[in-house]
Amino acid sequence: MFKVNENYLKLPGSYLFSNIAKKVAAFTEANPELKDRIIRLGIGDVTQPLAPAIIKALHAAVDEMGQAETFHGYAPDLGYEFLRTVIAKNDYQGRGCDIAADEIFVSDGAKCDCSNIQEIFSEDSKIAVCDPVYPVYVDSNVMAGRAGDWNPQTEMFSNVIYMPCTRENHFSPEFPKETPDLIYLCYPNNPTGATLTKAQLQGWVDYANRVGAVILYDAAYEAYISEEDVPHTIYECDGARTCAIEFRSFSKNAGFTGVRLGFTVIPKELKSGDVSLHSLWARRHGTKYNGAPYIIQKAGEAVYSPEGKAQLREQVAYYMKNARVIYEGLKSAGYTVSGGVNAPYIWLKTPEGMNSWEFFDHLLETANVVGTPGSGFGPSGEGYFRLTAFGTYEKTVEAIERIKRM
Ligand code: MLT
Repeated sequence: MFKVNENYLKLPGSYLFSNIAKKVAAFTEANPELKDRIIRLGIGDVTQPLAPAIIKALHAAVDEMGQAETFHGYAPDLGYEFLRTVIAKNDYQGRGCDIAADEIFVSDGAKCDCSNIQEIFSEDSKIAVCDPVYPVYVDSNVMAGRAGDWNPQTEMFSNVIYMPCTRENHFSPEFPKETPDLIYLCYPNNPTGATLTKAQLQGWVDYANRVGAVILYDAAYEAYISEEDVPHTIYECDGARTCAIEFRSFSKNAGFTGVRLGFTVIPKELKSGDVSLHSLWARRHGTKYNGAPYIIQKAGEAVYSPEGKAQLREQVAYYMKNARVIYEGLKSAGYTVSGGVNAPYIWLKTPEGMNSWEFFDHLLETANVVGTPGSGFGPSGEGYFRLTAFGTYEKTVEAIERIKRM
């Protein structure tokens, strides 16, 4: 009889957001009259249409695909030069960071990249994650057999280093006691909405270089940074070229959740002995990945056009207005809240005596609002709850009014 990858059997339950979707579906089946009343502020999925500059680029690229002279087949393994060049210029060189176009790998999103990246590291690598954390980092290492066993009592895997991020440490992790090989950091943070200052991030870069670890830095929410001292990329820190890989997404800054585009940066100096991680990832990408479609990469290029930039600034401002509505509304209702200033996520303490899932049920049943239970992101998320600012303004206002009345 064939055998399955038994590591998959170690994963507890289903993926967090699938679990929530199932719960909401069960609730609407039991209460069909409430179906249209439900307001979804759970998964961080965008609601605003693609900006006009992006739609224009998509139309033009579709027309090109219909003409023999301008038709495009397989995309280059690592992405079209036109896109990698504007990314390098705008996201890195323009900020004084030394990143070249050929250190950028275009893909169909940050989720795939940050879950696949572990493949190029040794099976016995020890990973460290923030707790709470975006579940993809842990689950992908479980699938690869690197996480050890699940302990249902502690809700932790035996071979993962969890770095608690709670109100007590301002949601900023301390260096772990045990030395990790791979450190997952996500800033601005999902789910807490917290940020690190440049000096704090520099501390992590120095630490990683000192202990010989790699930082896997997820900067998917970079566009939401509004404060001065918050780094936009890890490459603003000295020494990051020898210890950090960065993941970026077009989902949150440009609304590409249904279009799919992202990229990963691997500096050429990042090596284990003589082996460059850049060449390993290039080999992996070339073998296992077909490249993001030409049409979508042209849409990505439009994100960096003057019109695209202006339109997307407005889109980000729209969501951040929602973030303020949530933050201020909850605060005035007596909740303890954080996040929402440099990130589209608001992180709140659940009311006394209610755990994260109990609050989820209470919110769904009483206010017909869907959020994400903090404990779904890790044990230190217990007693917290996440709301996203990615809804429409009208529904966000309505949701907060309902929560206030609760
Ligand atoms: C989230 O809600 O945490 C995100 O939408 C998940 C993702 O981007 O994959």
